[in-house]
Amino acid sequence: MNVLIASAESVPFAKVGGLADVVPNIAKSVLQLGHEVKVVLPLYASIDRSRLKPYLQPMIVNMGYGVEFARLWACKYDEVEYFFIEFERYFGRNGVYGENGNGYSDNWERFAFFSRAVIDMCFFLNWIPEVIHANDWHTGLIPVFLREQQVGSLQRTASVFTIHNMGYHGYGPYDLLRFVGLPTHLFNPFALEACGGVNMMKGALQYADKITTVSPSYASEIQTLAGGWGLDDVLRYRSADLIGICNAVDTNIWSPKSDRLIAKNFSYHSLHNKDACKLDLQKKFGLEVDKSVFTIGVVARFVEQKGLDFVCDLLPEWENHLHVQFVILGSGDSTLEYRFTDIMHRYSGRISVKIGYDETLVHVIEAGADCFLMPSRYEPCGMNQMYSMLYGTLPIVHAVGGLRDTVENYNERSRTGTGFVFEDFTHGALYNTVCWACSTYYDRKDDFRAMQKQAMKKDFSLAQFGRKYADVYRFACERKV
Ligand code: ADP
Ligand code: GLC
Repeated sequence: MNVLIASAESVPFAKVGGLADVVPNIAKSVLQLGHEVKVVLPLYASIDRSRLKPYLQPMIVNMGYGVEFARLWACKYDEVEYFFIEFERYFGRNGVYGENGNGYSDNWERFAFFSRAVIDMCFFLNWIPEVIHANDWHTGLIPVFLREQQVGSLQRTASVFTIHNMGYHGYGPYDLLRFVGLPTHLFNPFALEACGGVNMMKGALQYADKITTVSPSYASEIQTLAGGWGLDDVLRYRSADLIGICNAVDTNIWSPKSDRLIAKNFSYHSLHNKDACKLDLQKKFGLEVDKSVFTIGVVARFVEQKGLDFVCDLLPEWENHLHVQFVILGSGDSTLEYRFTDIMHRYSGRISVKIGYDETLVHVIEAGADCFLMPSRYEPCGMNQMYSMLYGTLPIVHAVGGLRDTVENYNERSRTGTGFVFEDFTHGALYNTVCWACSTYYDRKDDFRAMQKQAMKKDFSLAQFGRKYADVYRFACERKV
């Protein structure tokens, strides 16, 4: 099979969140099964061009108002062919979606353009994929183009759309349809219209041949009023074509055995070496250096989804009642940034906060902490709880989406589990669950150690993951015919 994966992000070129981790994992795992896979991204100004090669001919992009000329660049990374669409007006900026916490106001235009350019890239390369796999709203118009526009040799190309996060829809005005050359009769609630605008996520959900999302639990949650962000009816209608596939982990990047960014490598046979990582973490974050103190890590985008406002509310309570250190890394919402920094000053040596984006520090935290806190209000899959488990760092999570599917709650009777899970999103439940993890760490050391080993043996490997996506691609092709 020939597959083209379109995304706004992919490691190692452009990353904002987990989408960037997952795209190369899909590409690599499907490629390893013998399929041909290419990935296409916008060429943001922040991407280093020295490792890419430009095509000399300009590439025509057919917009509704006429043609635009873009340039295509390419490179091979980890055996996968990557393509990059250069178009200065929309992508000649450093941010992916925005800068300094503010989204670009023309995001709908940027990604509507990108989606059309992906179609035109196939003509330009004279390469006809059997499947185009679009990811999140940024590429949501691709399934619509494939059915509603005269796309010549792409007429038999099937589309797969993956929902990484229902919380972001991509709204444009009515004019968006004319802008990209789609018929204006699609501005109706049975096609792309929602709340008086054009909703690109909705378009994808209506038009994709197959829809996936990033965990089985999330596939159920988004079909409910509470989790559907206004599109639950569309998802229930498409439920026969919707499947949840849990994200996988690339252990070439995330393995305590070989990670070069951590103080000392370890495995479950040499878990004592994790102590060196903890001391390193405490030093790097200016905490009191003491390997016996219970240490909790947090890494996240500071957005409402992640439930960090509850963490801010409870930090003083935990500090006043427990012997615990917190290490927090992230950025985003300015109120949260301010609140975390303020709390750090009040509890210096016990709480350390770094505002920013730092990939090395994520590895240091995953390796050095005892537990990793992820109290998300909702979480389609989540990557960090999986990374944590592989590093013997037990996740403390709210039972939603991929957190529910990947973390096994501690069972005191059978002395099994890979983390600490709470059901209700309340201050009380979160407070108590952190206390429970803390008492397990200090008072039931053998259980804690047994859970660490169980967590490190978890299999989030790419092999089974690639097979699931390859099946979906096949189903999509069958549906299209
Ligand atoms: P989301 O995509 O919703 O942000 P995920 O858990 O799926 O959540 O993925 C987040 C990814 O982004 C992980 O790889 C995580 O390590 C990374 N990340 C989040 N915040 C930061 C940060 N401040 N610095 C470096 N990496 C970060
Ligand atoms: C989104 C979700 C996250 C998921 C990631 C990759 O950003 O918030 O839960 O892991 O996409 O699929």
